[in-house]
Amino acid sequence: MTETVVTDAKPAPAKKAVPDTQTVTAVKHWTDRLFSFRCTRPSSLRFRSGEFVMIGLMTTDEKTGREKPLLRAYSIASPSWDEELEFYSIKVEDGPLTSRLQHIKVGDKIVLRPKPVGTLVHDALLPGKRLWFFATGTGFAPFASLLREPQTYEDYDEIVITHTCREVGELTYGRELIEGLKDDELLNEVIGDGFWKKIKYYPTTTREESPKMGRITDLMRSGEAFRDLDVAPLNPESDRAMICGNLAFNLELKEMFEEYGLKEGANSDPQHYVVEKAFLD
Ligand code: A2P
Repeated sequence: MTETVVTDAKPAPAKKAVPDTQTVTAVKHWTDRLFSFRCTRPSSLRFRSGEFVMIGLMTTDEKTGREKPLLRAYSIASPSWDEELEFYSIKVEDGPLTSRLQHIKVGDKIVLRPKPVGTLVHDALLPGKRLWFFATGTGFAPFASLLREPQTYEDYDEIVITHTCREVGELTYGRELIEGLKDDELLNEVIGDGFWKKIKYYPTTTREESPKMGRITDLMRSGEAFRDLDVAPLNPESDRAMICGNLAFNLELKEMFEEYGLKEGANSDPQHYVVEKAFLD
C-alpha cells in the first residue's frame, strides 16, 4: 500500500520540454520559390513512405518573450529506409515559417516532432495494377518518398506521375529525382534491372511555355492526358491514385475520381484513392 504525504510545499515547476532538434546536413535551392534540405533522422523515428511530420524552428513569442517552436506539417520526401530525412519546401516571403526556414544552412538546428502520420501510404489503397501520383508544386514531396520505396514497384505494374507547376523550373526537383531512379542502387538490387521502365512521367506547366501546357485536370477532362500517356482513363478495377496539391486541385480531382467510380480510402479503410493537402505557409 502506498502512502500519500500531503504538504503545503509548492510543486516543483514542470521541466521545460526539450524540443526535438535535428541538424541540417544539406540544402539545395531549386528556384527563387522552392528549396529542399536534408537533416539527421532521430533514431526513434519509424515512418511509412508518404507520411508527414511536424517540423519547424524555435521562435520567440512576442507577448511572453518565451521561446517556442513554430511548426508546420511537412511530407517526408525521403524513403522510409533512408538514414537521413529530406524535405521539399516552398519559400513564402511573409510566411511565418518559410520566410525563415529558407535561410537554413548546413549545421543549423531544426525542430522535428517524431510522430509521422498521413494517408498517402500503400496501406490505404486496395491492391491494383496501375498507381497514379497527382501533384502540384511541392505536393510532389510524398511521391519523392514513395518513388524511392521498393514496395511501389513490387505492388504495381505501372506508375504514372503527373506534376503540374506554374513554371518550368518548378519541375526540376521532381524530374531530377525521377531520372536518378535508374541509378538507385537499392531499387536496382531489390526490384531488379529495368524497374524504372514501369514509370510514366507527365509534367505540365500552366504559366510558362513547356512541351506540355495546361492543368492536369483539364488535360484529363479533354482526354488529351490519356492519349499522350497511352493509358485508359482511371477505373476502380485497375487504377489506384494518390493526390497531393493545393486545395482546389485536390477537390477537383476528388470530384473527377468519384465520377470514374473510385472511392476515397484511409488507413482504416483502404480504397481506390487517397488525398492530402500540400503544405503552404
Ligand atoms: P494555374 O497556374 O492555372 O493556377 P499554386 O502554385 O498556386 O499552388 O499552383 C500550382 C499549380 O497547380 C499551378 O500550375 C496551378 O495552375 C495548378 N492548379 C491550381 N489549382 C488547380 C486546380 N484546381 N486544378 C488543377 N491545377 C490547379
